[in-house]
Amino acid sequence: MSTVTPVSTSTSQRKKVTTLTFRQKKERGEPITMLTAYDYPTAMAMDRAGIDSILVGDSLAMVVLGYENTLPVTMDEMLHHARAVSRGAKSAMLIGDMPFMSYQVSVEEALRNAGRFLQQAGMDAVKLEGGRERADAIRKITGAGIPVMGHLGLTPQSVHQLGGFRAQGKTASTAKHLLEDALILEEAGVFSLVLESVPARLAEVISKQISIPTIGIGAGAGCDGQVLVTHDLLGLFDRFTPKFVKQYASFHAEMSKAFSEYIDDVETKRFPSIEHIIEMTDDEWNLFQEEIKK
Ligand code: KIV
Repeated sequence: MSTVTPVSTSTSQRKKVTTLTFRQKKERGEPITMLTAYDYPTAMAMDRAGIDSILVGDSLAMVVLGYENTLPVTMDEMLHHARAVSRGAKSAMLIGDMPFMSYQVSVEEALRNAGRFLQQAGMDAVKLEGGRERADAIRKITGAGIPVMGHLGLTPQSVHQLGGFRAQGKTASTAKHLLEDALILEEAGVFSLVLESVPARLAEVISKQISIPTIGIGAGAGCDGQVLVTHDLLGLFDRFTPKFVKQYASFHAEMSKAFSEYIDDVETKRFPSIEHIIEMTDDEWNLFQEEIKK
């Protein structure tokens, strides 16, 4: 690792974002910003940029760990990454995404695992996927004082049941079901709700009918906030990019270019050059020469 002087950290830290901030932003009509992060430097950069909330998403499974879907990632893996994020971000609200099978088996297990995100990984809240069938788990978790974010629409942990990563709520009856689920989750106590891959006008209606803020991903501008998977936004994950993603950088291409240049530099002996070497005084060098002659 190079010995670069670190960029000075600002002493005036932003005020911590909380569930109250979320609610106030909705009331004021101010959009809520959220991104995913899975490591310390990314979380730190986002926090410094002023993001409202960081989700340690189970998208970790796909964009960092290389799985086909989000199902294989475990509680221990999620906690490992959540801890790194909480070391990097002090002001953003930190949300731990409950992985597949960490909350579906029983409400007791759901509560225990939700608690681990706060107690062992420095998260401020948890997120879980699903509608009315999750109401009991949400009541149990929020009853213990742990804020829960809901997630409706395309819920990737149900990819096999949904028949693939496909948009939801596109028919009148599924749209009605989604709206009902949103109202049930609000009543069960979620402080906010992710709406993923649903028609924009449905998301807008839901956002108007519930008092808690909605955070959209592929759900249009009518939501109270937006979230993207950071690896999509940065162009770091090149396996596929959903239609709803706006790519702000092409880091995968940049990374490949940097790696190729490094390989070329080493192979052609352009690296390391004089500015990358560690010097020794001539006196010490001469002493050393004497030593090895003995
Ligand atoms: O895991 C994740 O990154 C998510 C977002 C897509 C909301 O759940």
